[in-house]
Amino acid sequence: MIIDTHGHYDDKQYDGDRNSLLNRLRENGVGAVINSGADFKGCKDTYELAEKYPFVYGTLGLHPNDSAEMTEEIMEWIRTHAENKKIVGIGEIGLDYYDEEPSHELQKKWLIRQLHLAQELEMPVVIHSRDAAEDTLTILKEEEAGRYGGTMHCFSYSKEMAQELIKIGLHIGIGGIITFKNARKLKETAEAIPLERILLETDCPYLSPDPYRGERNDSARLLYVAEEIARIKGVTTEEVIETTAQNAKEVFGVKG
Ligand code: NI
Repeated sequence: MIIDTHGHYDDKQYDGDRNSLLNRLRENGVGAVINSGADFKGCKDTYELAEKYPFVYGTLGLHPNDSAEMTEEIMEWIRTHAENKKIVGIGEIGLDYYDEEPSHELQKKWLIRQLHLAQELEMPVVIHSRDAAEDTLTILKEEEAGRYGGTMHCFSYSKEMAQELIKIGLHIGIGGIITFKNARKLKETAEAIPLERILLETDCPYLSPDPYRGERNDSARLLYVAEEIARIKGVTTEEVIETTAQNAKEVFGVKG
């Protein structure tokens, strides 16, 4: 069964049919979903989803774009709620230099603090990084961020960067983008790294794969991602689904 290691089912795009969609996932080949908190509201909603559905797990953390919202109280909320056994990691956390704000300094500060929290709790991390490869790698190395494993979610850098991240103990999250015709760099990365270091992820509702590009995404569509990785690596789709599910179980301790 497919394990989706990164989704956002708390998004308002699911408000009309969240329950029926989630309850159909298993019959559509999806064994488990890890929902990722991004802002504080997303963390609270993630916690509720993980409590409500046996096959939904959660990770808690503040996204770099939301660093300005972070407080000591929210850090403490994350720490206490991460003790729930359905909470399986800290994230998504990271650096995003696409926009001017929040400042790089503020983003780095809260990334490092949340990495420390993950280590204190001995939990894997879910890293978001956009237009910030160098600073991200520097911090992840300095902080030994891969000590308890984790994923570079929605990987968008070079295959050399992927290999560096694997060396420090992280997995590489791959989703719908790999099915796009112009995703040459990501296809090269998937070819270069071992299947044992790849995790499937939707980042839903975003990044729906071809032939549904631009539509609202869901975990069942990871079948198209698995098919493309299988084609690139010359293995069966079933092998991609089973190996990546095994990887997800090892990294996050989920069942499915
Ligand atoms: Ni995400």
